[in-house]
Amino acid sequence: MAPALNEWLAVNLRWFHLVTGAAWIGASFYFNWLNNHVRPLEREDPDPAVKGEVFAIHGGAFYRVSKYAGAPARLPRVLHWFKWEAYFTWITGFLLLALVYWHDARAMMVDAQVADLSPLGAVGVGVGTLVGAYVVYDLLCRSPLATRPAALAAVGFGLFVGLSAALFQLLAPRAAAMHLGAAIGTVMAANVLFVIIPGQRDMVDAMVAGRPPPLARGAAGALRSLHNNYLTLPALLVMVSNHYPAVWAGPGGWLMVPALCVLGAMIRHGYNLRGQGAPRPFVISWVGAAGLAAVALGSALSGAPPPAASGAAPVSLSAAQMVIATRCMGCHATEPTMAGFVAPPKGLALEDRATIEANRDRIASQVESRVMPLGNLTGMTDEERALVVAWARGG
Ligand code: HEC
Repeated sequence: MAPALNEWLAVNLRWFHLVTGAAWIGASFYFNWLNNHVRPLEREDPDPAVKGEVFAIHGGAFYRVSKYAGAPARLPRVLHWFKWEAYFTWITGFLLLALVYWHDARAMMVDAQVADLSPLGAVGVGVGTLVGAYVVYDLLCRSPLATRPAALAAVGFGLFVGLSAALFQLLAPRAAAMHLGAAIGTVMAANVLFVIIPGQRDMVDAMVAGRPPPLARGAAGALRSLHNNYLTLPALLVMVSNHYPAVWAGPGGWLMVPALCVLGAMIRHGYNLRGQGAPRPFVISWVGAAGLAAVALGSALSGAPPPAASGAAPVSLSAAQMVIATRCMGCHATEPTMAGFVAPPKGLALEDRATIEANRDRIASQVESRVMPLGNLTGMTDEERALVVAWARGG
């Protein structure tokens, strides 16, 4: 595909994905908020099935939303469903994953240092992850464990850690992290498609047929909704972390993503507790946020000490520049020579000493984490890598 077309596709898909994701999560946050703020009626409602209401003001208008204890006696003429936000978030996310990672698997997914996979094999791992994650999760939710939500969550999380360990053994770390996020997103969207919406449809169909709505059908959906509620923040955290090697690179990367997911879910839990009227609900959120800060600080401080401090001779900029010229400039140049590149990626042309010097920290983090050179297409050796990092970290 022409590189410029590739970029336009990627940026538009990303935009679409963000917009639909914002709509999905916005609606989900709004309905959680509604549930948490419904108050008993202050006066009788003409419809006896209405049990609570919320008053709100927004955009210069007053709103009154009523909540039914069960179902209304008659279906309204227009009933709004909230599903396309979820479906389009998944579809655009899937296309983006396919375009950025699968389509360019050699550069984006395979890391010979991690596993000797073919690009097709790596794509197979990616596709298998999405399908497998939902199939296993769905079986768990249909097993006897479903009646014990805490045990279900513990087993599910254990399996997620296992998946993370496996992916980090097979794919380049960034691809591994991204596929964990995509697995969470797939579970969430599949919950909407296969359980939540069909359950609601059964309820509506029964009402149309004049039967009492099978409210129990909503219970299975409620469990999936609860899971989606806790998965929202972790999924977002993983998705926005893909440009930050500190999160997933290094030997602890496979544990870092699951740990961040737990901390993200703890932050969410505070909001849920507040909705249930618990005293001091946000203590758990603060513990989660403090955990995030501790993980970040711990990981930043445990990084390798600058080589200068360990007594090695400092590496000169000229020595680093020579490596960068052979291993990076094929792509990072005003006129890249690498096939498929029309402009320097991220506008970063590493052609002169000033630019290289100014980007010291970014170079260190990208080279040390093995994200750059992309897919090691230019065959950078470990000695060259050590040299560039030693220069960049050399203070
Ligand atoms: C095969 C082409 C290619 C080679 C070779 C390459 N890069 Fe990159 N580089 C990219 C692409 C593509 C991006 C944008 C990545 C993205 O959008 O996630 C990038 C981004 C970067 C960034 C910015 C990262 C960020 O997210 O801020 C830095 C820094 C960088 N490269 C440094 C290097 C260094 C140093 C080398 C040589 C050791 C190198 N690159 C070799 C293609 C390459």
